[in-house]
Amino acid sequence: GSIEGGCPVPHDGGVRALLGRTNKDWWPEMLATEILNPNGPSNPMGEDFDYAEAFNALDYNALKQDLTALMTDSQPWWPADYGHYGPFFIRMAWHAAGTYRTADGRGGANTGQQRFAPLDSWPDNGNLDKARRLLWPIKQKYGQNISWADLFILAGNVAIESMGGPTIGFGGGRADVYEPERDIYWGSEDKWVNQGVQTRISPEHGMHELEGPLAAIQMGLIYVNPEGPGGNPDPLQSARDIKATFERMAMNHEETVALTAGGHTFGKAHGNGDPSKLGPAPAGGDLSAQGFGWVSTNNSGCGEHTVTSGIEGSWVNTPTQWSENYFRLLLDYEYELVRSPAGAQQWQPINQKPEDMAPAAWDPNKKVPTMMTTADMALKMDPELRAISEKFRHDHEAFKDAWARAWFKLTHRDMGPKIRYLGPEVPAEDFIWQDPVPAGTMPSDADVAAVKDKIANSGLTVSQLIKTAWASASTYRKSDHRGGANGARIRFSPQKDWEVNEPEMLAKVLSTLDGLRGSMSLADAIVLGGVVGLEKAIRDAGFNVPVPFTGGRGDATEEQTDGDSFAVMEPEADPFRNYVGKKKLAVRVEEIMLDRASLLGLSVPEMTVLIGGLRVLGANHGERGHGHFTKRSGQLTNDFFVNLYDMTNVWSAVEGSDDQEYIAKDRKEGGEKWRATRADLIFGSNSELRAVGHVYAENGHEEKFVRDFVKAWTKVMDADRFDLKCAKYHK
Ligand code: HEM
Repeated sequence: GSIEGGCPVPHDGGVRALLGRTNKDWWPEMLATEILNPNGPSNPMGEDFDYAEAFNALDYNALKQDLTALMTDSQPWWPADYGHYGPFFIRMAWHAAGTYRTADGRGGANTGQQRFAPLDSWPDNGNLDKARRLLWPIKQKYGQNISWADLFILAGNVAIESMGGPTIGFGGGRADVYEPERDIYWGSEDKWVNQGVQTRISPEHGMHELEGPLAAIQMGLIYVNPEGPGGNPDPLQSARDIKATFERMAMNHEETVALTAGGHTFGKAHGNGDPSKLGPAPAGGDLSAQGFGWVSTNNSGCGEHTVTSGIEGSWVNTPTQWSENYFRLLLDYEYELVRSPAGAQQWQPINQKPEDMAPAAWDPNKKVPTMMTTADMALKMDPELRAISEKFRHDHEAFKDAWARAWFKLTHRDMGPKIRYLGPEVPAEDFIWQDPVPAGTMPSDADVAAVKDKIANSGLTVSQLIKTAWASASTYRKSDHRGGANGARIRFSPQKDWEVNEPEMLAKVLSTLDGLRGSMSLADAIVLGGVVGLEKAIRDAGFNVPVPFTGGRGDATEEQTDGDSFAVMEPEADPFRNYVGKKKLAVRVEEIMLDRASLLGLSVPEMTVLIGGLRVLGANHGERGHGHFTKRSGQLTNDFFVNLYDMTNVWSAVEGSDDQEYIAKDRKEGGEKWRATRADLIFGSNSELRAVGHVYAENGHEEKFVRDFVKAWTKVMDADRFDLKCAKYHK
């Protein structure tokens, strides 16, 4: 909704994945190429193309050499400050990676989204269209062997290295997509940050009220407004915003300081001219601009007349060399608030010594004062951040190390398990944020058969086995490839205590499985338990359909598990188990269902068949009978759909349930027949879901239902098996 003149309505933590502004709302004239999507995928490379294989055939060193040469190859259409594009590429890479947020794992650099709207046109990404265009000759030369997504990050690394800065490595493997990701929620404001909209965190709300899952303070920003919250140049308030937003992207305060200081050791801000002379962003640009945005009529419009953020100047006196100067200048000088030629508020050192001034970007013989943004001043004025700044100032080795590690984390955090990293520069060290899992061993057929037998005779019910396997595997999310059954982290805090997982039941199932698994990993035994439960349910329903099992998962240790980083993954609702937590949801349950299905990589039919099957298997949270439309509980039948579409039922909302619960009465006789949640009835109310549900309710499709369920189930169980999928690239 509109938030003009006030702060946005704070939602209590709901993952509003699918509402909010779309490209069509921002740019009504944008060509609707998505109408062709039903005719085939937007990706022109075809299904047989294997990016990992193509990357492995890349001449990596030659590419790095070409990138190094590019850094100082200034082009007349966008000349390089100081004759060096390095800082510009670092900013491009940081903004590519910096959209990542922990709550849903979306955003980040791993699909090359910066090429598409809305990101290509966010005010904070101003002029980065030129950085990407500078890379084009190299992208063209190496073609399919390097994706745009990898190139953005590698260009950042080469930029740092070419200016003497420390890095600890690079992993390739980010395959491009060819359309904007439409499953990501960026916020509901209908104005950009530079159009006078209030910050998402207001002083009254405090720093923990940033709307979930967002990790930026305003629409169109990567994190925070450099001029301070809502343009108010208050370093302490800025510090609050910086802490809140960087935490949302998995950075602690030390990493936050190291990243910002390391980044601003390079380059300059651009605000030497009138910002009202900037043309529209790329997505709204004229055809003749050919994808260039912010075309400026401010003198030459580029070079010394560039306006990007509106802030003007470099942070340090040595903007194209790694140095110790950022903290020195930040901490040694007092600063006063001034305005840039573009009118932006920024901080200037008082009585700056000539030797501490910076060279002018266009005339090395001219000296100009350095500057700090309000966000930089936060690292000086906030006591907690200042202590870190002081420490780094006096221990440059510690700063170098923290910077290099934080940069690697920033740019790789969304790639998932380390086995997905490719190329000669992957660091040998394992990092806890990679959620390491020790390699498993493939159980023999005899072992599998023996453990299956024991599970079948263990007294564990179909419902318990199915719920536990689902609880373990369904944490997977394709956004950042975290979660999943591998590692069996479900036995550790916090997952073992999540209410959605029914801790007491879970503990009992896990200890039973642990006692009978022999040499098989617990992670495998959990999934195998699901197979046993499912096969029984299929047999009892009178079908003969096998359930595939692929073992070889490993068990992670508690030391390999960063509990805090898993805590953000706790579902506030799991419509697949018909679970809703105690917290009032900010969004409708069916939206959460779609969001979860999207993160699991499911299609509409896969989501539909899974919900229909899980209901009759008794996979609901606790004893909840909602959606359990069957008289033969525990058998894998299509009863959910048959009964949902039975016109003898009339549905109505349960009074006082706030439209969260419904009951079906017999149209003629009255009397309660079934109970349901929104996540059940949506399959009758939504015409597309009903169309798919009808297929599963049709005569002759009883076995198809079972086979499709098994396929979708197995897809979820194996969603995180990168240990298998990627092994061939590491020979
Ligand atoms: C440039 C703000 C964090 C790297 C800029 C500019 C602003 C800004 C306003 C000037 C853009 C222009 O006018 O051209 C911020 C804020 C941050 C932040 C508010 C968070 C508190 C970071 C981080 C990195 C980074 C974490 C790197 C890891 C850079 C670089 C430039 C830059 C290299 C120079 C680009 C050039 O020379 O063209 N930043 N930044 N910044 N930023 Fe940041």
